[in-house]
Amino acid sequence: MGFWPTTEHWSVSIPLDTHHPRLEVLAARGVVALSDAPFAVPEHEYLDLHYMDWKSGGDTNFAPIATTDGELDCRGFWSAENEHPDKDAVFTVNASRCPTLRDYVSEVGANFGRVRIIKLEPQDRETALHSLHRDDNNRFNPPDSGWVVRSWVELTDNPDSYMLLMDSGPDGLPDPATEQRMPLHRGARFVVDTQRLWHVVVHHGDAPRYALITSFESGPALDAFITANQVRRFAG
Ligand SMILES: [Fe+2]
Repeated sequence: MGFWPTTEHWSVSIPLDTHHPRLEVLAARGVVALSDAPFAVPEHEYLDLHYMDWKSGGDTNFAPIATTDGELDCRGFWSAENEHPDKDAVFTVNASRCPTLRDYVSEVGANFGRVRIIKLEPQDRETALHSLHRDDNNRFNPPDSGWVVRSWVELTDNPDSYMLLMDSGPDGLPDPATEQRMPLHRGARFVVDTQRLWHVVVHHGDAPRYALITSFESGPALDAFITANQVRRFAG
């Protein structure tokens, strides 16, 4: 067996159970698939941005579209000097270069935190497992505020790649029996509770995968957006 996280992994100490209000739609699986994006995103809206060398989830670069103060910065919102939850973000200079994406995020109507494009180099499953992790999305988020989750829009077409998701087992480590896979074809959209689910992308192919990642605060606006765009699964 290859790499697998141990109880020493930094994700294990990230809280799972808190009093933050959460969305019922994410309760069962921690993820909800949306219909494919009903718009096309011109290549220049994600290729011609300022990218920064920032490693998270593999060999990655990020183009910040909204940050805590509007500056191009890939760090989390929190620091010793500035304890800021991942919401109330301000658009960066990149936002004016990607109006389709900027307007898409704005029109959800929910409070958003970091908005960024991820550029991920190919990595097979064994390599990707080294980066399997949970996010610290709700650090400094007051417990009466909505639980911060993340939304994806896939910008490049990678039908052979997938986001691997797992719940934690009793030991706090990812439980393989709970594996779910989200497809990453162009236009694929989904919302993930990335503080709850361990996640990483297995990216087959020979070119980088680009995707829009947005932190959203759970609440009536995000709930309405998901309801309006959710892929319906009928029993029977
Ligand atoms: Fe993450």
